[in-house]
Amino acid sequence: MSRIYNFKENINEEELKNIANILKEGGIVVFPTETVYGIGADATNDKAVEKIFKAKGRPQDNPLIVHISNYDMLKSVAKNINNIEKKLMDKFWPGPLTIILKSNNKVADSVTAGLDTVGVRMPSNDIALKIIEASNRPIAAPSANVSGRPSGTKIEDIYSELKDRVDLFVDGGPTDIGIESTVVKVENNTAIILRPGKISLEDIQELGINAKLDKHIFADVKKNEKVESPGMKHRHYAPNTKTILIEYAEDKIMVDKVDKYINNNKNLNIAVVCFDEHAKYYQNKNIKIIKMGSIKDPLQISKNIFSILRYIDKLELDVCLIEGINKDHIGTAIENRLIRACEYNIL
Ligand code: TXA
Ligand code: MG
Repeated sequence: MSRIYNFKENINEEELKNIANILKEGGIVVFPTETVYGIGADATNDKAVEKIFKAKGRPQDNPLIVHISNYDMLKSVAKNINNIEKKLMDKFWPGPLTIILKSNNKVADSVTAGLDTVGVRMPSNDIALKIIEASNRPIAAPSANVSGRPSGTKIEDIYSELKDRVDLFVDGGPTDIGIESTVVKVENNTAIILRPGKISLEDIQELGINAKLDKHIFADVKKNEKVESPGMKHRHYAPNTKTILIEYAEDKIMVDKVDKYINNNKNLNIAVVCFDEHAKYYQNKNIKIIKMGSIKDPLQISKNIFSILRYIDKLELDVCLIEGINKDHIGTAIENRLIRACEYNIL
């Protein structure tokens, strides 16, 4: 059973040293960031990084994000940084933005999955920054979850799944944002969003940078199709329960769709995940109602969504319907996670 250090209230300096030592010696540690929890290892130590892949059951072709705490570390992992990349760093670092940069081949091969690029981010979470600083090396860290499962946003959600697979857990309480960082790659003077996050297309365009969403953000990847970000090919965020995303232009259409589904499936145990304001539509329909947050507060929804996707599995449902969200600003990122969690099943 792995130990848990409690850093919710404050960072214990003695324990921080122990964490740094574990990382320096090639161990792996679950720690909080502002987005989701990560499983960290020394990015320059191939054996340590291998342990992450093993702990997660992660496909070897899916590269990891390298976390840094200062610009000297950036120099140690990436090269040829252009003006647009620099502008993105100046504006959004430290913070939830991962930039795909030219690798200078200093990180372990398994981190980049053999690509000549490396995904780098400087997180803003204080615990994460202190851990990287204390270990004095770039830290490779994918989201803390078994591959394919929803990402971990609180220790309680992931402890049992990872407890014998990592050396230590650092508990910093629930993460602020709740979904993973925006992943962006600059090509031909355009910032291409490979994975949407809290930093949105609109936020990047506001800087006067040309930006667009990669075409795979809402579409499934076809067999043998080439993708910019290998992570897009793999099963993601999925609860074990069958989930279906409800797409709708107006509330009435949505309620009609749900009514029809309930009528056609009377023998099934059904739940709906909905905006707080919509709970009233589903009362007296003999289905379970799970509220995901107010329609006026998408950030609250992003904070809750992975925990809700995990909670669904505790209810012994046959099927769970999930209301879709407007695809703008952070809504783009939430809808991207939902459509994948539902494995492209749409109502
Ligand atoms: O918020 C986050 O980014 C969290 C926290 C822990 O920092 N980390 C995270 O890592 O979500 P992970 O491994 O679950 O997701 C990394 C994503 C994958 O979709 C991967 O394919 C993509 O980044 N990626 C990493 N390196 C890449 C590269 N060189 N080129 C293209 N995509 C890359
Ligand atoms: Mg992940």
